[in-house]
Amino acid sequence: MEQLKTGSTDIRVSRIGYGCWGLSGAYGAIAEDKAVELLHKVLDLGINFWDTADVYGGGENERLVGKALKGKRSSVVLATKFGYVGNEKGALHIDGSPAYVRSACEASLQRLGTDYIDVYYLHRVDKRVPIEETVGAMMELKSAGKIRAIGLSEASTNTLSRAAKVTAIDFLQSEFSLATPDLAKDVMPFLEQQDIALAAFSPLGRGMLTSMAPYLQFQAGDYRRLIPRFADENFRHNLKVVEQMNAIALANNCSLASLALAWVLASGKKIIPIPGTRKLQHLEENVKALEVKLNVATLQQLSDLSGQIRGQRHNADNAAFYDTE
Ligand SMILES: NC(=O)c1ccc[n+]([C@@H]2O[C@H](COP(=O)([O-])OP(=O)(O)OC[C@H]3O[C@@H](n4cnc5c(N)ncnc54)[C@H](OP(=O)(O)O)[C@@H]3O)[C@@H](O)[C@H]2O)c1
Repeated sequence: MEQLKTGSTDIRVSRIGYGCWGLSGAYGAIAEDKAVELLHKVLDLGINFWDTADVYGGGENERLVGKALKGKRSSVVLATKFGYVGNEKGALHIDGSPAYVRSACEASLQRLGTDYIDVYYLHRVDKRVPIEETVGAMMELKSAGKIRAIGLSEASTNTLSRAAKVTAIDFLQSEFSLATPDLAKDVMPFLEQQDIALAAFSPLGRGMLTSMAPYLQFQAGDYRRLIPRFADENFRHNLKVVEQMNAIALANNCSLASLALAWVLASGKKIIPIPGTRKLQHLEENVKALEVKLNVATLQQLSDLSGQIRGQRHNADNAAFYDTE
């Protein structure tokens, strides 16, 4: 698979990455041995950019990734995140203090069974701690060889600019998809200008932008139960929009998931979608996005439809963690 050189380091990431969160129950269950097997398939398909976080599954996701990494560490560009403190199913707060940066990194290294992290992200900006202090501590981890590149997740351009005055920020990780296209207008030009790559999370709109959308059942524990755009009238409306996107996929001889990822890929040279799945068939379908070429009129048609998606992407509790600076 084509690889991209990103930012100020010699890190090269595959054009499509893989998000590991769903392997720890975010959208349904999967047995651990099957999850490790799937991660090895991910690598076999040429996807070297794996995304996890210390908060996923209360640390279980990093442990799982650590198991899959055994004997394969050098083939993987490993990204993880810190900042959320608490249980993802309970009360959470953000800690970006330098002392916490150091202790969180040690704990992640231990769970992952490695002595370095390739891309280390602050998961959400801590509004009580100046970003300069947080990234200053991350810079020290980099100097000590514990991390190779620094990223911020869901940070505003203002925060990114301030952070970039302290040290090189090579990645932003934020939600970007046909269901959440908001970054396209203001943030994307900034990232291009600063040579910051975007790891686009939830690029399949958490399953909404796939052929499975009409059949989704949100079991207990499914994160989507908390999200307004998956609820009631919003969801019924959104399924109609998705149906129109699906017609475009059919006309382009591809699946809706491939189409949705192709739109993300076409939105910028340094945008790396990191879709998650528990199923090999879905994984293979997602990789096929690389073969889908969309003309300007189709891209515009999809962008127009994306503006019709209704409902917030997070509930009020999660929205409180947004960086609005
Ligand atoms: N920085 C952050 O704050 C943040 C927030 C959210 C996510 N993330 C990262 O981004 C990654 C991806 O995001 P995400 O998992 O939230 O959402 P996503 O990739 O947009 O969607 C995942 C959902 O889509 C389904 N799916 C995937 N491929 C499919 C296909 N070809 N056909 C039908 N269904 C398909 C999956 O179900 P199956 O398992 O059944 O395939 C799963 O329910 C996460 O794993 C995580 O690493 C980061």
